Amino acid sequence: METIGVWIGNGAAPAFKQADLLAAVPQLRSPAHVVQDPASGALGVAQGGLFMPQGMQAPGGTPAWPVLATLPPIYPEWLGDRSFCETHAVRFPYVSGAMANGIASTRLVIAMARAGFLGFFGAAGLGPATIEQALHELERELGTADSGGLTWGANLIHSPNEPAIEERVADLYIRRGVRRVSAAAYMRPTPPTFATPTRGWASVRADGSGASTMCSRRSRVPRSRVTSSSLRPPRCSTCWSRRAS
Ligand SMILES: Cc1cc2nc3c(=O)[nH]c(=O)nc-3n(C[C@H](O)[C@H](O)[C@H](O)COP(=O)(O)O)c2cc1C
Repeated sequence: METIGVWIGNGAAPAFKQADLLAAVPQLRSPAHVVQDPASGALGVAQGGLFMPQGMQAPGGTPAWPVLATLPPIYPEWLGDRSFCETHAVRFPYVSGAMANGIASTRLVIAMARAGFLGFFGAAGLGPATIEQALHELERELGTADSGGLTWGANLIHSPNEPAIEERVADLYIRRGVRRVSAAAYMRPTPPTFATPTRGWASVRADGSGASTMCSRRSRVPRSRVTSSSLRPPRCSTCWSRRAS
């Protein structure tokens, strides 16, 4: 097999056994070199040490393994779009979606925020008073966007049969300065929550798929940018199933 260089362990040895190979898998942040045991021909993985590309000479007497391929390091922070991390001030471009009735609990959202992710509190199916209590806890533990706190968000579920509750929850988010809201289950944008510029925040997408729809900033979104494409039945705000209305 064609080699691209050699690997010198500087005291370390490549992994050839199954358990050692498995231990190497989570080491995503280090380059991984696919090496061949010159004696047996077995393939293994080498990390750390020193890779010397073809043409460079390993010092005489140093054990060196031929390298067939090299995997560059992969940082979870680098996956996805960097602008997501910049916009939401998170380390990792990952979201834990809202899950109704507080299944996506305050504890989950707090743990996500502290680990550098963005979590949305599962506010659907909960009354405004319970949601306010949860927001209070999130603010206490994580701070708010305006106070330079950690990043978190909450869900705004479309409740076609309970517009007053939807309205109250929207008002609550605005009043308490919740800057990240995942708006879900919308069949079409509702004027009070999405298209009214005086609201101070608006959805960038409302297509009924909902869960990853985010209102990231207090920004005015022209009505033309707010789209409504889904003809699917709305989500139940309690159990998250789709009802044929
Ligand atoms: C039990 C359960 C409840 C959910 N409830 C909500 C909800 O209330 N609001 C919402 O926007 N998304 C809700 N979702 C959708 C999730 O936030 C997420 O977007 C969805 O599960 C897709 O992510 P996944 O592919 O990683 O599962 C729910 C999902 C599950 C499994």
